[in-house]
Amino acid sequence: MKSCILALDQGTTSSRAILFDASGSIRGIAQREFRQHYPQPGWVEHDAEEIWHSQLGVAREVLQKNALTADDIAAIGITNQRETTVLWERSTGRPLAPAIVWQDRRTADICDELRNAGHAALFQQKTGLLLDAYFSGTKLKWLLDKIPGARERARRGELAFGTIDTWLLWQLTGGRCHLTDVSNASRTLLYNLHDKCWDEELLALLDIPRELLPAVRGNSEIYGMTEAHWLGAAIPLAGSAGDQQAATFGQVCLSPGMAKNTYGTGCFMLLNTGKQPMASRHQLLTTVAWQLGDRSDSTEYALEGSVFMGGATVQWLRDGLGIIRQSDEIEALAASVPDNGGVYLVPAFTGLGAPHWQPHARASLFGMSRGTTRAHIARAALEAIAYQSADVLTAMQNDAGLRLRELRVDGGAARNDLLMQFQADLLDVAVVRPHITETTALGAAYLAGLAVGFWQSADELSALWRSERRFEPAMPPSLRASLLDHWRAAVAQTIAWQR
Ligand code: G3P
Repeated sequence: MKSCILALDQGTTSSRAILFDASGSIRGIAQREFRQHYPQPGWVEHDAEEIWHSQLGVAREVLQKNALTADDIAAIGITNQRETTVLWERSTGRPLAPAIVWQDRRTADICDELRNAGHAALFQQKTGLLLDAYFSGTKLKWLLDKIPGARERARRGELAFGTIDTWLLWQLTGGRCHLTDVSNASRTLLYNLHDKCWDEELLALLDIPRELLPAVRGNSEIYGMTEAHWLGAAIPLAGSAGDQQAATFGQVCLSPGMAKNTYGTGCFMLLNTGKQPMASRHQLLTTVAWQLGDRSDSTEYALEGSVFMGGATVQWLRDGLGIIRQSDEIEALAASVPDNGGVYLVPAFTGLGAPHWQPHARASLFGMSRGTTRAHIARAALEAIAYQSADVLTAMQNDAGLRLRELRVDGGAARNDLLMQFQADLLDVAVVRPHITETTALGAAYLAGLAVGFWQSADELSALWRSERRFEPAMPPSLRASLLDHWRAAVAQTIAWQR
């Protein structure tokens, strides 16, 4: 009896495996952290082999802990940290270099050069993305430029490129599948949103051989079977999506105008814009949400605002400043003062993402007095997460010409009630937290489950979604305006200060 779907959620700091039953409830979780490497300022690397072994390890562990076998699993869905770039040798499956993580800024100069040569509009028009080091294209170019002989070997078809979804599918199928899904493809700077294929002109600009690239498939279809020896028997691999798109699907934001914000390492807000890619005039990203089935005319799109420092700001309070011992202490500390006491933190530790895109900006703290305590700084850090999301939402509403009715939230920091109430107050929009906040893994499970008939329809999935708590805006408009005014002045100063 196939009682569960297994979701593999390969995130930036940990690999997780989560079992979902037919009611969309969690039957078991296993999680393993893996190492982060910072070899130079601005560089962030992962060991792709370690990622694979940690992901396989948690998949085995979650089955064992819950006394299940491969025969109980109807299908596997994969979801992943996006943009992180792996280059490997087809004959051995060995990576040629450490994976370059989405947060890595080493290719900012390549982006500057392409911008100075006048290519920004072309990339934006074709891919929906901005020329930023965030995306895979320039990371892959960097690897081909730096590894001796790599470009020639790539032309001979000896090497393979992939984001983490592709890398895991390759490993799970013993090298039989070299493919990606359209949501991950749309984060590479190489995928043409309109023609729905890899773009020859952009490949030529980045000098990336076509032979390296995986086939592009929908998000909910059977890609292949796992090698039987990995999990005890062959299991269909039937769903794959980048983690933010998967979370949007898990939140069942399936109609145009529905939006979610995930408070993870960063904060990623996605608005479903329906069947046409919507160009942004306010520095947001146009991205594929998902394609159900194998018909490319069923592709749906989203606008995305990517904020680089969300929960990572709280980690900085813990690891950098040392004013809390554990991340969850922040709520009580921040709540111990009635307000921020005039203190604002602009957490541009790795530059600013949407809607500012300032890779060289650095974090700053404003407005301290002799009365400022660590509680005010904790409050300013927490509030900064909400301010950044407010900037994104404003851009989004302006782009889409609509006013959001509610924002669905998930991710670790969405459990913080103080932050969620402040978010609703700042946005002047209701913030709704679902019963299941593991929406990234849930979305991957839904995509896989739909492909194998474990669930029948999107309507069935929508009926499974339940709100756990709704935060209604309660702040006087004049206070909201004044807080946003101070925040925007602080951001402007931060951007002006950079050298
Ligand atoms: O675009 C980066 C994003 O996919 C990373 O998400 O949750 O692994 O930090 P997360």
